[in-house]
Amino acid sequence: MDYTQKMMQADALKGKTIVVTGGGSGLGKAMTAYFLELGANVVISSRNQEKIDLVAKELCEQTGGSVLAVPCDVRHYDQVEALVKKACEAYGSVDVLVNNAAGNFISPTERLSSNAFDTIIDIVLKGTKNCTLAFGKHWIAQKETQKVVLNIVTTYAWTGSAYVVPSATAKAGVLAMTRSLAVEWAKYGMRFNAIAPGPFPTKGAWDRLLPGNLKEQFDLAKKVPLKRVGAHQELANLAAYLVSDFSAYINGEVITIDGGEWLKGAGQFNLLEDIPEELWDMLEAMIRAKKGN
Ligand code: HXC
Ligand code: NAP
Repeated sequence: MDYTQKMMQADALKGKTIVVTGGGSGLGKAMTAYFLELGANVVISSRNQEKIDLVAKELCEQTGGSVLAVPCDVRHYDQVEALVKKACEAYGSVDVLVNNAAGNFISPTERLSSNAFDTIIDIVLKGTKNCTLAFGKHWIAQKETQKVVLNIVTTYAWTGSAYVVPSATAKAGVLAMTRSLAVEWAKYGMRFNAIAPGPFPTKGAWDRLLPGNLKEQFDLAKKVPLKRVGAHQELANLAAYLVSDFSAYINGEVITIDGGEWLKGAGQFNLLEDIPEELWDMLEAMIRAKKGN
């Protein structure tokens, strides 16, 4: 079997309406395409109206599904409230919110202006807060239940990472929000989960994280025990499962999909992988010789 195959049964998301922030590119677009194939209506949003209109048209034609493109800068609460309103006007109600929109770039932290740091925090943490609060309040007020929020974080939400400090700070906050509300708002019939992807090549991320020849210099596949980057369909499969009713008992979880990348960086002796087989005979002999000393 091929890991890029589609996992869920047909119609697994039929009748659901799903909002995907940042749904006009990269992983957001891949998730949107699969949600549509599984029968959901999808509302995609980003700051760029022209871009999301084109993607909506493309995905409608490709899947036969219904996509609504709503421009919305997640940093502004009034725009997010308008997104809730437009989605509900179009489809009656919203069942799932996927907080996928993000901003990021590599930089030594001392080179960042205060505004540069704020910009990332505002998109990632405040944007996720704005969407979660606006949709959550709406669902509570309408007494609607069986709602799902899926947050896209990264593995450095818990390890931290140099050179992307605003993003690491913000994603850590998003993970804390996921786990906190999984408990607090369960009583309103909401589930909260997160996905922590490892490297999945997208133009948005690669242009800002591996500009120029950094792509060749730092081949991210080499950092992954499975020696490859992720395929978008693998992530879309996981997201579709987590927003579907099949995952109804999963709440407050973060699921890592990174081929073992972050653990490789964490394990103290993982670097011994570089030791050639022949050398192990010698090392073993040296260790055994110390017995009783
Ligand atoms: C230092 C920079 C900078 C850089 C921008 N700034 N780029 N500082 N180095 N490379 C500063 C600006 O000078 C400004 O500060 C402030 O940041 C805001 O910049 P603007 O361009 O005005 O912001 P805006 O137009 O809102 O654009 C936001 C953005 C941009 C984040 C800077 O890159 C963007 O639109 N990104 C969206 C998509 C994205 O980032 N995708 C990647 C997600 S990848 P001053 O002080 O001058 O006003 C991801 C993966 C994680 O999250 C894990 C991977 C493994
Ligand atoms: P991407 O294509 O750049 O996606 C980011 C999206 O966010 C874009 O569609 C962008 O659209 C939107 N966005 C940015 N600022 C916004 C704002 N203020 N309001 C509304 N929308 C905004 O990058 P990606 O790689 O697919 O990333 C998707 C998610 O996966 C992100 O949460 C990212 O952190 C996460 N992730 C990615 C990787 C990876 O390897 N690719 C790894 C770990 C985590 P506009 O610019 O049109 O607004």
